[in-house]
Amino acid sequence: MATVRTPIDPVQFREVMGNYPTGVTVVTAVDDAGPIGMVVGTFSSVSLDPPLVAFLPQTRSGTYARLRNAGAYCINVLAHDQVDVCRLLSGPDPDKFDKVEWKPSSLGAPMIEGAVAYIHCSPRPPIDAGDHYIALCDVLSLEANRQTTPLLFFQGGYGGFSPHGMTAYGDADLIEGIRLAAFARPQIELLAREQQCEAAVLVAVTANELTTVGSAYGGEAKMSERIGERLPMKPPLGEAFIAWAPDAALERWLSGAARDPETVESLRQRLATLRAQGYAVSQIGPEGGSHRDQLVALMAEYAAGDLTPARERSLLGRMAQLMHFFDTSDFDDDGTYNLGGVMAPVLNEQRNIVMLLRLSQLPQSVDGRQVKRWISEIRAAAAAVESELRADDSVDLDQSLAWARSMFA
Ligand SMILES: Cc1cc2nc3c(=O)[nH]c(=O)nc-3n(C[C@H](O)[C@H](O)[C@H](O)COP(=O)(O)O)c2cc1C
Repeated sequence: MATVRTPIDPVQFREVMGNYPTGVTVVTAVDDAGPIGMVVGTFSSVSLDPPLVAFLPQTRSGTYARLRNAGAYCINVLAHDQVDVCRLLSGPDPDKFDKVEWKPSSLGAPMIEGAVAYIHCSPRPPIDAGDHYIALCDVLSLEANRQTTPLLFFQGGYGGFSPHGMTAYGDADLIEGIRLAAFARPQIELLAREQQCEAAVLVAVTANELTTVGSAYGGEAKMSERIGERLPMKPPLGEAFIAWAPDAALERWLSGAARDPETVESLRQRLATLRAQGYAVSQIGPEGGSHRDQLVALMAEYAAGDLTPARERSLLGRMAQLMHFFDTSDFDDDGTYNLGGVMAPVLNEQRNIVMLLRLSQLPQSVDGRQVKRWISEIRAAAAAVESELRADDSVDLDQSLAWARSMFA
């Protein structure tokens, strides 16, 4: 009796298969046109005797059309810190091999600097497998190159292996952030007391996340346990920090925005405006109250951690939808305003951000004069923290946090 098969929905196929994580490799070779590289998640060890490995290229891949005619491959296992290499090599840039460090193997195939391992092999004729091939390869030699964790791909997002689950960042970075926050402590206490609000200091502990490392409360502001709470820095979130980050960090942040050039351009403009004016204000519009409550709830969910990439994308997407009340505008002395927050950066000598001061839980329905007072108070506080930090020889601001180490390089 013939079995009737229900057709499989390709979207569901991808989504369900995305729950199975893979490593990320780059299969490289050379031909007359130069180096070739294909980012491949389907790499697998196949047989020990004889030593065989395989990967599954799409039949219509132009890159594989070149690879299949090459005589030798190097399969580069990417490390957790090579997302940029992966993005570059899987993209269409014709000069990609000028933008990554590599050297040729004895067989001529590119060995990418910083990869975890190299597997040198020669391809067998591809085996048909639906819309893919099974590309079996004889292993000729292999070497582990670097003692570090590999890059992982899961639910369409990149991550790393951690024996303790999805930890967000090392304790060392958080502790260093808290140490820096101590320099701002007198200023945030003063601000909270005098401006009757919550005053906090935030640092970046990774290129994608800010965390609160100190806060103080005055007036009606409610105590909330925010220390160590993670806030995402993906467009449009985190603009008040990233506006003062070095260009490399700023570009990386922008590259996480929607692909359409208009959105990217308007975000770029906004960052330039913030940078020029020296502070950021978030204003709550007519729908602001309920939007802000929803945003706070989403932030809390994000901060709770242990997010899978799919869950993180959904949360960030919903947050981005609620962000349209986050608009800075000119303030009329006699206008009435409801502000979500007032933020100012503490900068190092190179004018790069070290930490962000933030006023929140501010009294509502205030006039423009009051808004301007808050702006000038927080900027004065940030300047005071800057001189404190510069006066202290024990702090090397460019080196103190892992985030800064990678971004100020
Ligand atoms: C993480 C990751 C894993 C990938 N894995 C595969 C794979 O296993 N097989 C494949 O054919 N393409 C894979 N791709 C896509 C290719 O790297 C490449 O982008 C694609 O072949 C480009 O099309 P082209 O070869 O026609 O230029 C992967 C891409 C990424 C980013």
